[in-house]
Amino acid sequence: MARKKVSIVGSGNVGATAAHWMASKELCDVVLIDIVEGVPQGKGLDLLEAMPIEKRDSFVTGTNDYKDTAGSDIVVITAGIPRKPGMSRDDLLNTNYKIMQDVVGKVVANSPNCILIIVSNPLDAMAQAAYKISGFPRDRVIGMAGVLDSARFRTFIAQELNVSVENVTAFVLGGHGDTMVPLARYSTVAGIPITDLMESAVIQRLVQRTRDGGAEIVKYLKTGSAYYAPSAATTEMVEAILKDKKKILPCAAYLEGEYGIKGLYVGVPCKLGARGLEQIIQIKLTNEEAAALQKSADAVKELCAVIGV
Ligand code: LAC
Repeated sequence: MARKKVSIVGSGNVGATAAHWMASKELCDVVLIDIVEGVPQGKGLDLLEAMPIEKRDSFVTGTNDYKDTAGSDIVVITAGIPRKPGMSRDDLLNTNYKIMQDVVGKVVANSPNCILIIVSNPLDAMAQAAYKISGFPRDRVIGMAGVLDSARFRTFIAQELNVSVENVTAFVLGGHGDTMVPLARYSTVAGIPITDLMESAVIQRLVQRTRDGGAEIVKYLKTGSAYYAPSAATTEMVEAILKDKKKILPCAAYLEGEYGIKGLYVGVPCKLGARGLEQIIQIKLTNEEAAALQKSADAVKELCAVIGV
């Protein structure tokens, strides 16, 4: 069986680090592509030369030519400008939409059967843009972010309770923005809901830190945004698809009436397998949770309206 091929558009921190995780797990061959000349080639070759040490046979290359991405099983799009301190993800809208318009057409022309994973911000609006531009069915256009936001929530829960991160599951729904919806009732430690383990004021503090998780990193880095956790989250999605794991992960998906939302990308629990988005899992929400999800969806809708997607 031929090895799977994953192309990553954007060889900046998120793209290059995603390539690193994927190759070090030997998930696939990786093509890094960027408009900047030399950077994808240099990072690709450098990573390739690490493979003998890592004992991995993932072939990594870098290019500026979309022809080299032809026949990809998955294309991850990270292209776009990142935030600077004080900026919200939404401030990136117009610039990154232009980049998305350029990139998605070229990707689709070379890999008409690929699954697209969108990582560029503002995440949900960029996923919606890619869905519209590509003309792909919704099962082949999936947005990253819920896995990242849930990982942040899990980190904070594990720290607070001094337990292994492996014991902690968490669910964060809604858009990848200030209105995201961390669901405490469905977040557990060894199966025990965190609502039974922590005071609600403590949970609220962790929820707020999760919502601000991206900004917290931007504030430290000053010249860019987070990339280790975002690229690890992307890699988990890629792995679930390539290995047909039927894994349930929170991702941005195009809703067609699920959760009472129609025609919009919002973060919900998704089953990922070889066909991409194989199922949207509908869970019962309290009135308060449903209202928070709707508010988050409204924020995504506003952004989509600005760029007309
Ligand atoms: C974050 C940015 C990448 O949440 O959206 O870190």
